[in-house]
Amino acid sequence: STIALIGVPLELGAGAAGTVMGPAALRTAGLRAAIAGLGHHVVDEGDMDVPHAVPEFAPGELANCRNLSDVAAWTGEIHDRALSLLASGALPIFMGGDHSIAMGTISAVSRFCAEAGRRLVVLWLDAHADFNTPATSPSGNMHGMSVAFLCGEPSLTPVLGERAFPALAAGDIHLFGVRSVDAEERRTLVERGVDCVDMRMIDEFGMSALLRGILDGLDPETTHLHVSFDVDFLDPELAPGTGTTVPGGATYREAHLVMEMLHDSGLVRSLDIVELNPFLDDRGKSARVAVDLVGSLFGRSIVHRPSPRA
Ligand code: ARG
Ligand code: MN
Ligand code: MN
Ligand code: MN
Repeated sequence: STIALIGVPLELGAGAAGTVMGPAALRTAGLRAAIAGLGHHVVDEGDMDVPHAVPEFAPGELANCRNLSDVAAWTGEIHDRALSLLASGALPIFMGGDHSIAMGTISAVSRFCAEAGRRLVVLWLDAHADFNTPATSPSGNMHGMSVAFLCGEPSLTPVLGERAFPALAAGDIHLFGVRSVDAEERRTLVERGVDCVDMRMIDEFGMSALLRGILDGLDPETTHLHVSFDVDFLDPELAPGTGTTVPGGATYREAHLVMEMLHDSGLVRSLDIVELNPFLDDRGKSARVAVDLVGSLFGRSIVHRPSPRA
């Protein structure tokens, strides 16, 4: 099927400005050619426009959310755009933008899957859990609340306004690579039973065994796997171009192996690439590594590729 690139230049959900330049940096690093070179049909849909109609919220409603009205306006427009791309049969790649764009992208994927009778599973590659609520967030930055929103956190439902989507069940989202969780955030995460593969587990058992545990048993005929790739999943040495770096992230080989295994699974039907901040990058290094990884996700191999379930 066609792979559709769509730029979502949003930075208002993050603490640091600069992710608006993410889509441009991914294009400069050759994202389209990297995928097309593997034999895929790729169309670049350009960048989404800044929404003009911005919803109003009652005074005090979601008061702790920075840039709430703008982020909510974007969320609605991203949701609509994502739905129409999915309905066209394309495999969309959402080029962020900060991680708050996932409130729009994944809510749409969830709605699409419900209508198509598919099971949605989300793999959230991230140093963070992004499970804060307005009540627990220490920063008020909405990119730290996306997973809570997608799991149906009631205080965040007004963000998408009238549009409804099936909330993700705790067992259908897997956080992977986590190494920074706020104190209150941890409590909600554990209470809700969200699967969180943290770096402690990865150190002990390795990425491949843990990822296999998630992917095994999922049927590509009936499952839609959405991958939400936060660039801070990677170690800061490898990818300094992001606003919330945390030491001890995925290495180059670990990250490629994750992408290679995802390709072999045949499950991936949509992708976010988020939190790339070219303003903080080192001569395009992080943009290039992100493009390289997407190549592995879409089928680039070195020489030998073991059979998927070997
Ligand atoms: N937990 C912190 C917060 O809520 C950091 C979140 C970082 N999120 C991200 N998508 N990079 O502010
Ligand atoms: Mn994130
Ligand atoms: Mn993160
Ligand atoms: Mn392929």
